[in-house]
Amino acid sequence: MSRRQAAVEVGVRFPLMAVFPIRVFGDAVLNTAAAPVDSFDDDLARLIDDMLETMYAAPGVGLAAPQIGISKRLFVYDVGEGPGHLVNPGLVEAAGEWEFDEGCLSVPERFWPILRPAYARLEGFDADGKPLELEGDELMGRMLQHEFDHLDGKLLLERLGKRERKSALRDLRDATLGLAGLE
Ligand code: NI
Repeated sequence: MSRRQAAVEVGVRFPLMAVFPIRVFGDAVLNTAAAPVDSFDDDLARLIDDMLETMYAAPGVGLAAPQIGISKRLFVYDVGEGPGHLVNPGLVEAAGEWEFDEGCLSVPERFWPILRPAYARLEGFDADGKPLELEGDELMGRMLQHEFDHLDGKLLLERLGKRERKSALRDLRDATLGLAGLE
Protein backbone atom coordinates (compact mmCIF):
# COMPACT_ATOMS: atom_id res chain seq x y z
CA MET A 1 0.00 0.00 0.00
CA SER A 2 1.37 3.40 -0.90
CA ARG A 3 1.84 6.18 1.61
CA ARG A 4 -1.01 8.05 -0.10
CA GLN A 5 -3.46 5.11 0.07
CA ALA A 6 -2.58 4.61 3.71
CA ALA A 7 -3.19 8.29 4.36
CA VAL A 8 -6.59 8.16 2.64
CA GLU A 9 -7.61 5.17 4.71
CA VAL A 10 -6.79 6.83 7.99
CA GLY A 11 -8.64 9.92 6.87
CA VAL A 12 -5.71 12.28 6.38
CA ARG A 13 -6.46 14.87 3.75
CA PHE A 14 -3.71 14.92 1.14
CA PRO A 15 -3.27 17.77 -1.30
CA LEU A 16 -3.61 16.73 -4.93
CA MET A 17 -0.46 15.78 -6.77
CA ALA A 18 0.89 18.49 -8.99
CA VAL A 19 2.16 18.48 -12.55
CA PHE A 20 5.11 20.86 -12.95
CA PRO A 21 6.18 22.64 -16.14
CA ILE A 22 9.24 20.92 -17.59
CA ARG A 23 12.29 23.14 -18.11
CA VAL A 24 13.69 23.06 -21.62
CA PHE A 25 17.04 23.49 -23.34
CA GLY A 26 18.44 26.96 -22.65
CA ASP A 27 17.32 27.00 -19.00
CA ALA A 28 20.42 27.36 -16.78
CA VAL A 29 19.13 24.88 -14.19
CA LEU A 30 19.70 22.10 -16.75
CA ASN A 31 23.41 22.95 -16.93
CA THR A 32 23.93 23.15 -13.18
CA ALA A 33 25.26 20.32 -11.00
CA ALA A 34 22.51 19.57 -8.47
CA ALA A 35 22.99 19.51 -4.68
CA PRO A 36 22.57 16.35 -2.60
CA VAL A 37 19.22 15.79 -0.86
CA ASP A 38 19.81 16.22 2.87
CA SER A 39 16.46 15.45 4.45
CA PHE A 40 14.38 12.37 3.83
CA ASP A 41 11.10 13.86 4.98
CA ASP A 42 7.48 14.29 3.84
CA ASP A 43 8.50 17.09 1.47
CA LEU A 44 10.79 14.66 -0.34
CA ALA A 45 8.02 12.02 -0.57
CA ARG A 46 5.67 14.67 -1.95
CA LEU A 47 8.28 15.85 -4.47
CA ILE A 48 8.74 12.27 -5.71
CA ASP A 49 4.94 11.91 -6.17
CA ASP A 50 4.80 15.20 -8.06
CA MET A 51 7.75 14.26 -10.27
CA LEU A 52 6.11 10.92 -11.14
CA GLU A 53 2.85 12.70 -11.97
CA THR A 54 4.76 15.17 -14.17
CA MET A 55 6.67 12.35 -15.89
CA TYR A 56 3.52 10.33 -16.64
CA ALA A 57 1.73 13.43 -17.93
CA ALA A 58 4.58 14.29 -20.32
CA PRO A 59 4.79 11.27 -21.00
CA GLY A 60 8.34 10.10 -20.36
CA VAL A 61 10.25 7.13 -18.93
CA GLY A 62 12.39 9.20 -16.59
CA LEU A 63 12.52 12.66 -15.01
CA ALA A 64 15.25 14.28 -12.93
CA ALA A 65 14.50 17.03 -10.37
CA PRO A 66 16.45 19.75 -12.26
CA GLN A 67 14.00 19.26 -15.14
CA ILE A 68 11.30 20.85 -13.00
CA GLY A 69 13.69 23.51 -11.74
CA ILE A 70 14.66 21.80 -8.51
CA SER A 71 18.43 21.47 -8.32
CA LYS A 72 18.48 18.36 -6.13
CA ARG A 73 20.02 14.95 -6.80
CA LEU A 74 17.05 12.66 -7.42
CA PHE A 75 15.11 11.20 -10.31
CA VAL A 76 11.99 9.15 -10.95
CA TYR A 77 11.37 6.61 -13.69
CA ASP A 78 9.10 3.96 -15.17
CA VAL A 79 10.47 1.93 -18.05
CA GLY A 80 7.25 -0.10 -18.20
CA GLU A 81 7.61 -2.10 -15.00
CA GLY A 82 6.14 0.37 -12.53
CA PRO A 83 7.30 3.59 -10.90
CA GLY A 84 10.61 3.98 -9.11
CA HIS A 85 12.96 6.65 -7.84
CA LEU A 86 16.53 7.09 -6.64
CA VAL A 87 17.98 9.78 -4.39
CA ASN A 88 21.65 10.90 -4.25
CA PRO A 89 22.78 8.27 -6.75
CA GLY A 90 26.33 7.31 -7.57
CA LEU A 91 27.26 5.52 -10.80
CA VAL A 92 29.19 2.47 -9.64
CA GLU A 93 29.40 0.35 -12.77
CA ALA A 94 28.90 0.68 -16.52
CA ALA A 95 29.73 -1.92 -19.15
CA GLY A 96 29.26 -2.84 -22.79
CA GLU A 97 28.03 -0.61 -25.60
CA TRP A 98 24.59 0.10 -27.00
CA GLU A 99 23.38 2.63 -29.55
CA PHE A 100 19.89 3.95 -29.02
CA ASP A 101 17.78 6.80 -30.43
CA GLU A 102 17.75 8.83 -27.27
CA GLY A 103 15.42 11.71 -26.44
CA CYS A 104 14.86 14.02 -23.47
CA LEU A 105 11.76 15.80 -22.17
CA SER A 106 13.91 18.94 -21.86
CA VAL A 107 14.87 18.82 -25.55
CA PRO A 108 11.37 18.03 -26.84
CA GLU A 109 10.64 16.05 -29.97
CA ARG A 110 14.26 15.41 -30.91
CA PHE A 111 16.10 12.13 -30.94
CA TRP A 112 19.72 11.30 -31.68
CA PRO A 113 21.45 7.93 -31.99
CA ILE A 114 23.75 7.90 -28.98
CA LEU A 115 26.29 5.26 -28.03
CA ARG A 116 26.64 4.57 -24.31
CA PRO A 117 27.43 1.60 -22.09
CA ALA A 118 24.58 -0.95 -22.34
CA TYR A 119 24.63 -1.79 -18.64
CA ALA A 120 24.70 0.54 -15.66
CA ARG A 121 24.46 0.16 -11.91
CA LEU A 122 23.67 3.03 -9.55
CA GLU A 123 23.71 3.13 -5.77
CA GLY A 124 21.71 5.63 -3.80
CA PHE A 125 18.79 5.87 -1.41
CA ASP A 126 15.02 5.57 -1.41
CA ALA A 127 12.60 8.23 -0.12
CA ASP A 128 13.08 6.98 3.45
CA GLY A 129 16.88 7.17 3.27
CA LYS A 130 17.40 3.41 2.98
CA PRO A 131 20.16 2.25 0.62
CA LEU A 132 18.81 1.35 -2.82
CA GLU A 133 20.59 -0.09 -5.83
CA LEU A 134 19.27 0.07 -9.39
CA GLU A 135 20.74 -1.70 -12.38
CA GLY A 136 19.80 -2.73 -15.87
CA ASP A 137 20.77 -2.87 -19.49
CA GLU A 138 19.29 -1.49 -22.70
CA LEU A 139 16.36 0.84 -21.89
CA MET A 140 16.79 0.62 -18.09
CA GLY A 141 20.56 1.09 -18.35
CA ARG A 142 20.07 4.02 -20.73
CA MET A 143 17.50 5.70 -18.50
CA LEU A 144 19.79 5.34 -15.44
CA GLN A 145 22.72 6.97 -17.23
CA HIS A 146 20.58 9.70 -18.81
CA GLU A 147 18.93 10.72 -15.51
CA PHE A 148 22.24 10.52 -13.65
CA ASP A 149 23.73 12.94 -16.22
CA HIS A 150 20.92 15.44 -15.52
CA LEU A 151 22.05 15.61 -11.88
CA ASP A 152 25.50 16.67 -13.05
CA GLY A 153 24.00 19.32 -15.32
CA LYS A 154 24.59 17.32 -18.50
CA LEU A 155 22.11 16.98 -21.34
CA LEU A 156 22.18 14.18 -23.90
CA LEU A 157 23.79 16.58 -26.41
CA GLU A 158 27.04 16.18 -24.49
CA ARG A 159 27.04 12.49 -25.38
CA LEU A 160 26.98 13.18 -29.12
CA GLY A 161 30.12 13.13 -31.24
CA LYS A 162 31.78 16.52 -31.75
CA ARG A 163 30.37 17.13 -35.22
CA GLU A 164 26.84 15.85 -34.42
CA ARG A 165 26.79 17.97 -31.31
CA LYS A 166 27.74 21.09 -33.22
CA SER A 167 24.98 20.58 -35.77
CA ALA A 168 22.41 19.66 -33.06
CA LEU A 169 23.26 22.85 -31.14
CA ARG A 170 22.96 24.92 -34.32
CA ASP A 171 19.52 23.38 -35.02
CA LEU A 172 18.34 24.05 -31.48
CA ARG A 173 19.57 27.64 -31.50
CA ASP A 174 17.85 28.27 -34.84
CA ALA A 175 14.62 26.79 -33.47
CA THR A 176 14.89 28.93 -30.32
CA LEU A 177 15.55 32.08 -32.39
CA GLY A 178 12.60 31.16 -34.61
CA LEU A 179 10.32 31.00 -31.56
CA ALA A 180 11.62 34.34 -30.23
CA GLY A 181 10.95 35.88 -33.63
CA LEU A 182 7.28 34.93 -33.41
CA GLU A 183 6.69 36.90 -30.24
NI1 NI B 1 16.35 14.03 -20.05
